[in-house]
Amino acid sequence: MRIAVVGTGYVGLVTGTCFAEVGIDVTCIDVDVKKIENLKNGILPIYEPGLEEMVARNSQKERLSFSTDLPSSIQGCDAAFIAVGTPPGEDGSADLKYVLAVARSIGQNMNDYIVVVTKSTVPVGTANKVRQAIAEELEARGVDIPFDVASNPEFLKEGAAIEDFLKPDRIVVGVASTRAEEVMKKLYKPFLMNGHPLIFMDVPSAEMTKYAANSMLATKISFMNDIANLCEIMGADVNMVRKGIGSDARIGNRFIYPGIGYGGSCFPKDVKALIRTASENGYEMKVLKSVEEVNDNQKMVLYNKVNNYFNGDLAGKTFAIWGLSFKPKTDDMREAPSLVIIEKLLAQGAKVRAYDPVAIKEAAHTLGDTIEYGKDEYETLIDADALLLVTEWPEFRSPNFNVVSKLMKDKVIFDGRNIYDPAEMNEKGFTYYGIGTKQQMSQQLDATI
Ligand code: UDX
Repeated sequence: MRIAVVGTGYVGLVTGTCFAEVGIDVTCIDVDVKKIENLKNGILPIYEPGLEEMVARNSQKERLSFSTDLPSSIQGCDAAFIAVGTPPGEDGSADLKYVLAVARSIGQNMNDYIVVVTKSTVPVGTANKVRQAIAEELEARGVDIPFDVASNPEFLKEGAAIEDFLKPDRIVVGVASTRAEEVMKKLYKPFLMNGHPLIFMDVPSAEMTKYAANSMLATKISFMNDIANLCEIMGADVNMVRKGIGSDARIGNRFIYPGIGYGGSCFPKDVKALIRTASENGYEMKVLKSVEEVNDNQKMVLYNKVNNYFNGDLAGKTFAIWGLSFKPKTDDMREAPSLVIIEKLLAQGAKVRAYDPVAIKEAAHTLGDTIEYGKDEYETLIDADALLLVTEWPEFRSPNFNVVSKLMKDKVIFDGRNIYDPAEMNEKGFTYYGIGTKQQMSQQLDATI
């Protein structure tokens, strides 16, 4: 089989590479000449564990190629995946101009039946617009070539995208004809070995599934963050509560970790988009509006703790920040809580020294030289007034606390991800603040040490 994947961003590149990995002939297309040149030389625009090796391997086997030439690349393809960006427009709604431009271009150049698959996260109803754009172009050419439009949302997690693609929990495909269903079945057959289903449905339902999934996950997180905040007030420990509720199979123990708010390219955007789609159609998503509000507040929680601890006097103080990306194993800084925290600290006249295993370069695009960057996590601690653990990279889990305490001026840790054990931190002589943990007890312990 042969496919084209248009857009070599995160979704497109992972999709194209993983299809090539199972033996499908893939051309990844992008308008960005530099990006395509780089990809031909094995240089990737994003960081994703394992992807670079996989691109190299499949390029070498000539199953994966890169091109800026859409007209010739789509010839002979069974399917063309549209995986270009849908940046939020001025009013926050997904801007479909790139998606529709690709659709038009396909319409202008296709010579045979093809399934055009929307892979970018797009609002419900987009597949119709894609179908219309292609039909208009075919009509303008005066030709009558059959085609189908399918919706195939991606559920990849950054940092685990390859694993998620190769061993998916499920694959959702919205189709409007059995012909398209057959093509999609053939394409995805190699990924169904682990017994998880390929679920066919109508196109609007597939489009809605993506938003419903991400919104449900975002809801779990905001709910737990709300509970964590209440735990603090009531003297309960959210880590215990989490274990207590997570063992109920109906609730499940995944995605219920409180923290400093969800970030990334999907949850914030998709929650907003669903609220918007609903309101445009006369319906109010009350739960999701609260999910968003709780999340905005949660990004401030760590800063508020710091500010309280220092009685609002942060000017001239130095804060060490461990982790900048919105989550571990990615260099993605989109909607990262670190940006909100750093902005607040800087506004109060504090100094920030940060370290992240892979996101420093990406972070520097936004933060520039407003902060210092450590060459490793320990360097950030020199004479620091406090340490803020912002992203739970594995290498931060078990640092040498003797070194940590020697380097810091004041031994205070604000742990935004609850990766350290409060009692152990107190034993080691640190003042420790987690999220939704028993701080009062920690402080009492502190006072008696
Ligand atoms: C998410 C979805 O998981 C994926 O299916 C979809 O295709 C894209 O969006 P991603 O944004 O890569 O993937 O990250 P994910 O691992 O889901 O984490 C999202 C955010 O939630 C992060 O900011 C993370 O820190 C936060 N989170 C996650 C929590 O705060 N608590 C949790 O228990 C889980």
